[in-house]
Amino acid sequence: FSLKNYNTFGIEAKAKQFIAVHSIEELKTVLAENQNQKKFILGGGSNMLLTKDIDALVIHIDLKGKKILNEDDDFVWVESMAGENWHEFVLWTIDQNFGGLENMSLIPGNVGTTPVQNIGAYGAEIKDTFVSCDAVTIVSNEIKTFTNSECKFGYRESIFKHEVKDKYIITSVTFKLKKHHHDINIGYGDIQAELAKNEITNPTIKDVSNAVIAIRNTKLPNPKELGNSGSFFKNPIISRELFLKVQANFPDIKHFDVSPTQVKVPAGWLIEKAGFKGKRFGDAGIHKNQALVLVNYGNATGQEILNVSKDIQATILKEFGIAIEAEVNVI
Ligand code: EPU
Repeated sequence: FSLKNYNTFGIEAKAKQFIAVHSIEELKTVLAENQNQKKFILGGGSNMLLTKDIDALVIHIDLKGKKILNEDDDFVWVESMAGENWHEFVLWTIDQNFGGLENMSLIPGNVGTTPVQNIGAYGAEIKDTFVSCDAVTIVSNEIKTFTNSECKFGYRESIFKHEVKDKYIITSVTFKLKKHHHDINIGYGDIQAELAKNEITNPTIKDVSNAVIAIRNTKLPNPKELGNSGSFFKNPIISRELFLKVQANFPDIKHFDVSPTQVKVPAGWLIEKAGFKGKRFGDAGIHKNQALVLVNYGNATGQEILNVSKDIQATILKEFGIAIEAEVNVI
């Protein structure tokens, strides 16, 4: 079974077996019937690089549905099933005038995978509105609820990448969203510039969403047109000592203070400085408008993209002494 249409990089890789599940009951049955089989859980396929065929039963989580669980004067608790497309879900919340997700418009992927890497953009992260998620335990078929603190969210991090990696299948996520919007998050420079361009001084959550969509469309390639997985690397957090050394040689380096001893620097800037932006190696390349994004021009293999990423990592280490880490899951 070809997985080309199930990963946003558009990599050709085969699954030994493939099942799409549409309900929790169906998921439990599939797990019970395949206890001794190797399994691979597939959501929206937007944060992975397939470098080989999958010698396992691929279970595609296609659970749909969203509903309002509860509300009071100020907040509303909304639950979405894991297989809903993230951006469509965000647009639905904005249509209801529920605030909190608008800065994360147009992020590719499905709702069920958003907690895994605590997705974020333009000053917002999933952890800011996330209440809990339900998950099926792969070995025992029991349902477990993870609260916000149990998820141990960090910058593109959660418990699902570490302690409980490959142990649970997230089936739904609940968010707490706002009914009143006096604290819209427009601190990010790009958003302010986009709103100013359209002469919007008192933005609604819809205006913020539109601004984010416009920014993303100019910088980030649409996976439907050019295979990619968003940011391929995480922005590295380095010691202030190392940062000062690098800054002495490159005074224009962009940075963000994380703590008195730690500084985050944009991997996109490092990659651009190292001369990779817009470069192409066969069908694998580095996007021309955002160096953090690796792209598949058509028939690149996962291995070819992985090789480009390793070349970038080695060059950045050599030139700046900074180790950058992949954000996507390399399979
Ligand atoms: N930069 C360059 N050259 C580039 C790209 C960026 O010099 O080719 C510089 C920019 O000038 C800017 C800085 O790097 O000063 C930061 O760039 P940008 O605001 O575009 O964001 P980013 O740090 O590159 C992060 C997220 C994105 C998210 C944006 C906006 C990570 C790994 N990436 O990128 O998330 O959309 O901020 O908030 O944290 C994703 O995770 O897939 C993703 C796209």
